[in-house]
Amino acid sequence: PRVVAVIPAAGVGSRMQADRPKQYLTLNGKTILEHTIDALLHHPLIDDVIVAITPGDAYFDQYRLREKPIHVVDGGKERADSVLNGLMSLGENDWALVHDAARPCIEESDISALLELINSDEVSGGILATPVRDTMKRVKSSTNVISHTEDRDGLWHALTPQLFPARLLKRALQNGLSQGANITDEASAMELEGYKVAMVNGSPANIKITHPADLPLAEFYLKQKFS
Ligand code: C5P
Repeated sequence: PRVVAVIPAAGVGSRMQADRPKQYLTLNGKTILEHTIDALLHHPLIDDVIVAITPGDAYFDQYRLREKPIHVVDGGKERADSVLNGLMSLGENDWALVHDAARPCIEESDISALLELINSDEVSGGILATPVRDTMKRVKSSTNVISHTEDRDGLWHALTPQLFPARLLKRALQNGLSQGANITDEASAMELEGYKVAMVNGSPANIKITHPADLPLAEFYLKQKFS
């Protein structure tokens, strides 16, 4: 089947407190978005790459990302809206591999492991994830006081890419959005529809760049990847 990568890249990245959206910060001489696009473009099993960009985003042109063999769509209000816009041109039998612009350290082998799910009869797709490493606390709402300690066993960080049949994912995101559900990744929309979603143990180097302290760490991981 055809596999199309969809990159939501229309966020503002307010937690980074930078002078531009975080996907346009430079790591080892290339923007974060360019690292991410290149990783997906170079994967042998990915047929097409679609990027959702804020309408009128001046940085996108400035970095000549338009010269890459990708398709560009408008981003939306929430991440799920951006992903939905990206899915609109996909065919009935295509698979969508959704990957955050802010995760440039993704490794080819992790993408390949996730793509093996296409052959599964047990699940309707899946996601990369890593087990949590810290002890997890629940806080009493709107306080800084601990309510209790969560059982860490079986708790995972949901990463991207997330891989689903495009037809099912489109409907799941549309339903989730119309119900006003809190959809922070593709799997949460699929779970709400009752689909079985697999967890694939991925590399902890696949961080989502969020805070300034993540930048040198991502540069380190990118250097390792290409060494
Ligand atoms: O804000 P957060 O880091 O969770 O965003 C995850 C990804 O979704 C980022 O790559 C961001 O650019 C993208 N996004 C988007 N459209 C939005 C909000 C976020 O494409 N409205």
